Amino acid sequence: MINVKITGTGSYVPEKILTNFDLEKFLDTSDEWITSRTGIRTRHVAAEHEVTSDLAAEASRRALSMAGVQAEEIDMIIVGTITGDYPWPATACVVQHKLGIQNCAAFDVSAACSGFVYALDIAVSRIRSGAGSKALVIGAEVLTRAVDWEDRNTCVLFGDGAGAVVLEACNEDKGILSTHLHADGSYAELLYQPGFGSRNPASEEGLKARLPYLKMQGNEVFKIAVRSLTEVAFEALEANGMTAKDVNLFIPHQANQRILDATAKRIGLSDEQVYVNVDRFGNTSGASIPIALDEANRLGRIQPGDIVLLDAFGGGLTWGAALIRW
Ligand code: UT7
Repeated sequence: MINVKITGTGSYVPEKILTNFDLEKFLDTSDEWITSRTGIRTRHVAAEHEVTSDLAAEASRRALSMAGVQAEEIDMIIVGTITGDYPWPATACVVQHKLGIQNCAAFDVSAACSGFVYALDIAVSRIRSGAGSKALVIGAEVLTRAVDWEDRNTCVLFGDGAGAVVLEACNEDKGILSTHLHADGSYAELLYQPGFGSRNPASEEGLKARLPYLKMQGNEVFKIAVRSLTEVAFEALEANGMTAKDVNLFIPHQANQRILDATAKRIGLSDEQVYVNVDRFGNTSGASIPIALDEANRLGRIQPGDIVLLDAFGGGLTWGAALIRW
């Protein structure tokens, strides 16, 4: 079987930082509440001229540079995003153009915070099937333009950023060992954007009702998140005959420090095994895992031969895991 390994990682977050204290100035909230309930202290916010494809393209350039791969060599670009430049066409097509290339397959995956792991799964399968040998898999979001800045229940949680990996076919005994994807659409309305799709097309009334903004029933989502992240992590480990002890680095979706702690505890992971950056970036949805993966990689937290477990959960509801031998 053809193996598929990650040969480069990259990430990009906008320069502007919004602190909890900044939020206190225009919202009925406090640094104390946000920190104790979520662990988030700051999040990055895209500049007015920046759009999702800009973040994605910059993260991609950094990943390509690390891999030593030219953009022209890429056979497919897959972007996990729910805040693309446009509802359509796909942000992946815009990224392709910004990287100065043409012809390769380019499409987005809509799986919310699980988008990167879903995109990874598709890219690995396509490479294994012989559809190409080099892929760019990206998670990119500008969530600060999708949240309702009058809704303290949600707007304090999210931030902007992008992460990318270069995948290449290889004959070595390493790479993506397995991927595991799940969804339960009966929970679609626990975390969603009610407008403006076919259910609630664009209208002034819809705008007044704030339908184009993200809505979440946080409490419900919290419980399902911990359960699903735990279950799929065990599924990935069991599929490879491993246990929590084999994991060198666990990189979960960065939604909330309390979710990370509860999940890690249930899986049986120590703090040292878990990569956390939710305090600095907040929840960047599809971008959160690839940003964390790139940070950990550049910090030397991942060494050749290490076992890395990616664990995602988000709107859909969707969840998924990927087990990697680095
Ligand atoms: O990325 C995809 C997956 N997303 C997640 O996994 C997020 C899952 N959910 C969560 O992380 C948490 O549920 C939240 C952080 C969203 C909320 O934390 P919580 O401990 O579940 O709080 P809560 O929703 O039960 O709200 C508790 C109280 C409420 O006040 P009352 O009704 O008890 O008087 C809220 O109105 O906290 C209030 N509250 C706030 N207070 C100050 C909610 N947001 C804020 C805020 N500042 N920003």
